Amino acid sequence: MNDTETAPPPATPAGSEPTGPPVLSVRDVDVTHRIAGGRLFAKAHLHALTGARISVRRGEVLGIVGESGCGKSTLARVLVGLQKPTAGVVRFHDEDLWGMPATRRASEFGGAVGMVFQDASTALNRRLTVRTVLRDPLDVHGRGTKAQREARVREVMDLVGLPPSAAEVLPGQLSGGQRQRVAIARALVLEPEVIVADEPTSALDVSVRAQILNLLRDLKDRLGLGLVFISHDIQTVRYLADRIAVMYLGRVVEEGPAERIVHAPRHPYTVALFSATPSLLASTERITLTGPLPSAVDPPSGCAFRTRCWKATDVCAQTAPEPRAAEEEGHLFRCHHPM
Ligand SMILES: Nc1ncnc2c1ncn2[C@@H]1O[C@H](COP(=O)(O)OP(=O)(O)OP(=O)(O)O)[C@@H](O)[C@H]1O
Ligand code: SF4
Ligand SMILES: [Mg+2]
Repeated sequence: MNDTETAPPPATPAGSEPTGPPVLSVRDVDVTHRIAGGRLFAKAHLHALTGARISVRRGEVLGIVGESGCGKSTLARVLVGLQKPTAGVVRFHDEDLWGMPATRRASEFGGAVGMVFQDASTALNRRLTVRTVLRDPLDVHGRGTKAQREARVREVMDLVGLPPSAAEVLPGQLSGGQRQRVAIARALVLEPEVIVADEPTSALDVSVRAQILNLLRDLKDRLGLGLVFISHDIQTVRYLADRIAVMYLGRVVEEGPAERIVHAPRHPYTVALFSATPSLLASTERITLTGPLPSAVDPPSGCAFRTRCWKATDVCAQTAPEPRAAEEEGHLFRCHHPM
């Protein structure tokens, strides 16, 4: 089955502008993992996420960028409740997610937030037909009658551009792009407010990537969803995102409206990261970072970027920079000597 044989159905009315208070927000969230240390039987702590602050509203795409290992997937897992933070607060609307009774967390939060993983071939149960894969969350959450569940499965397949004939096949019989459509449909089936997509196109052929990106953007517009889109590819994030968060060594070092982050970045790391894609910046000078990426087990004191930053001074080693507001509303960065 190829990826171009169906067109999306007509739009259903929904807002595409960011609306209302945040559905999800994380405040000062840390995630540390205990790992085997250097010495025999010794334990060390790996700091996967440090002091993360981020929020997501309906109708907006929050893009998250950063190098491999900077904590993007960890943040995604925190946002969808798969990872309990070591410290800090995750809020779902006005409630502390991890203070909610587990049954309400599963029913209310579980239905309101969906996740799309990088590789649909491992994320979907290979032995179940597409129909069963899509009906399963409705069964688990006890939504509607049997007939209503079947109707919702058909509706959601239509939404993501899957033909009705795909209902009876196994995920393994579909192309990579069609499989990812199934994964997106599964994330949508409970009518969530927010979807978190962690590198949803990086396992796909280049020819299919644009179709999946366009589908996500279209769904965000038509359903008024909040979308967290994670990628190490800046061009892709820039294409989709209304807001961008830049991560380095477990920290969100800068966050704000996409246009400001691209055209007026304040954090040296953002400038260096984006300079690798010269067309995104007015200046075409490429900044090459020297020195190794520090270890997340033993991160630098003060600002984590200081060992590779050309603007670092003594204060950068002594004090971790707090978030500072740029002139533009909603643009925050963490740097003692901003650009
Ligand atoms: N369960 C775990 N136990 C120990 N360390 C972990 C665990 N999960 C993640 N890490 C570490 O946490 C850090 C952040 O990992 P994470 O997967 O969030 O990064 P990422 O930005 O998603 O990387 P990539 O771009 O490669 O997907 C890495 O150093 C990783 O090795
Ligand atoms: S705080 Fe200092 S080391 Fe960190 S990015 Fe800013 S100038 Fe560089
Ligand atoms: Mg990842």
